[in-house]
Amino acid sequence: MINQAKQDIDKNGYLSIDIDPTLDIFAEIQRLKKEKNAILLAHYYQDADIQDIADYIGDSLGLAQQAEKTTADLIVFAGVHFMAETAKILNPHKKVVLPDMKAGCSLADSCPAEEFSAFKAQHPNHVVVSYINCTADIKALSDYIVTSSNAEVIVNSIPKEKGIIFAPDKNLGAYLVKKTGRDMILWDGACMVHEIFSLEKIAKLKLKHPEALLISHPECEAPLLEISDFIGSTTALLKFTQQSTAKEFIVATETGILHKMQLSSPEKTFIPAPPDNSCACNDCPHMKRNTLEKIYLCMQYEQPEILMDPLLIEKSRLPIDRMLEISAKAGL
Ligand code: 13P
Ligand code: SF4
Repeated sequence: MINQAKQDIDKNGYLSIDIDPTLDIFAEIQRLKKEKNAILLAHYYQDADIQDIADYIGDSLGLAQQAEKTTADLIVFAGVHFMAETAKILNPHKKVVLPDMKAGCSLADSCPAEEFSAFKAQHPNHVVVSYINCTADIKALSDYIVTSSNAEVIVNSIPKEKGIIFAPDKNLGAYLVKKTGRDMILWDGACMVHEIFSLEKIAKLKLKHPEALLISHPECEAPLLEISDFIGSTTALLKFTQQSTAKEFIVATETGILHKMQLSSPEKTFIPAPPDNSCACNDCPHMKRNTLEKIYLCMQYEQPEILMDPLLIEKSRLPIDRMLEISAKAGL
């Protein structure tokens, strides 16, 4: 069984064990949560059924904060690899499992540690600020980790005379340069989901829905952000839709967030911003690798597990702790 499981994880990223089709997976996941003192953390980009069974749903900052304070013995992460890795860094002595090890991130992939290390060496005396969507190796090379919820506050907290390298998202970086007035050196990385929205299709949608507000994630490219009515992290976008008096919204981020928006404002209309391809909406293929079945199996067998070198945990924890400290002080 152990050998088979290892082979499955190496080959597919997840355990491929047949599940009795009559099994009530929702009830089984709830049973396993109690039996193993487990917590199920889910990102807003997960499928609706996963969000509905999670103990906590949130953005990257909220998920890191929950991971830091949990008393659970087993952390089950319905998200992507860098998120589960962050939970492990914050909980070196706990077991952290990810339903599918191949749930990666194009943004994290766009910043290999060796190349980034050489880039950093070209700009000595610069503070390194990295978006949480990066590997633990990049975190270990960073002074501060940020998310889209706290990036502005953290950049503003860095003394004005200090030069800043920002990695890996050039779009969030450019947005922060504009917001903070800081002249940052940007790593050339991007998210595959947020870069493919079609300005032309969005303009047509706006003609059809003249009252709709366009709300966008800062991982989107500058021309889209320039025409947006509101820009923010997934949590900020959700809050905006709850508080706004508008009735229609065109949402330029991954479509998973629409589930919570619709649940909390059933009277409002949410339209996913269309990408520049034949699909009507924009899913993250990494986030969508997780399924209820994979979650059930990884809770039952406690695999695939995030395992890390203790030295890397120690080095990568420092900039995450700084982020959590500044966020707490700012009331985020
Ligand atoms: P937030 O949920 O922190 O806004 O991040 C969005 C994202 O792309 C996560 O992968
Ligand atoms: Fe990475 Fe983009 Fe997917 Fe988020 S949406 S996990 S940034 S590829």
